[in-house]
Amino acid sequence: MQYSLITIKSIKSEANGTLSFFESNTDIPFDVKRVYYISGVLNGGHRGAHAHKTLRQFLFCPYGAVEVILNDSKCSESIHLSSPSTGLLLEPGLWRDMLWHEDNSVLCVAASEYYDEKDYIRSFEEYLQYIENTAEDN
Ligand code: TYD
Repeated sequence: MQYSLITIKSIKSEANGTLSFFESNTDIPFDVKRVYYISGVLNGGHRGAHAHKTLRQFLFCPYGAVEVILNDSKCSESIHLSSPSTGLLLEPGLWRDMLWHEDNSVLCVAASEYYDEKDYIRSFEEYLQYIENTAEDN
């Protein structure tokens, strides 16, 4: 499945917490054109339920715990993000659901492209069809 977990460099200070950082094309393999984040979701909350045709994304959860459930049309895998120093690199073509496991967990995303609704596939049926058609084209 087209994803990887990346350790986000972090500098811990004795008394005052930890600073974490990543840079385009050094720590993650694309130019970041957009950053967005999701806040105010309660435990049990659910978002996502879509795939992207071309977008690459780097997801991280600096506060709380969010599960990302990926499906590539053949199998499903679940990734738990709950550390400021772990990020999830998602390649295009993966269906994803996100499930909140703690109130007010914050899910942040660095994205390779500007927002474009045309890049989304929001129906699972359509997603399966898209993957089948893409496989036939190659
Ligand atoms: P969406 O990506 O569907 O979020 P989620 O999968 O977490 O539910 O986006 C929710 C809404 O926000 C949708 O109407 C599109 C809009 N949106 C933007 O306008 N710009 C953005 O960069 C993003 C990510 C979403």
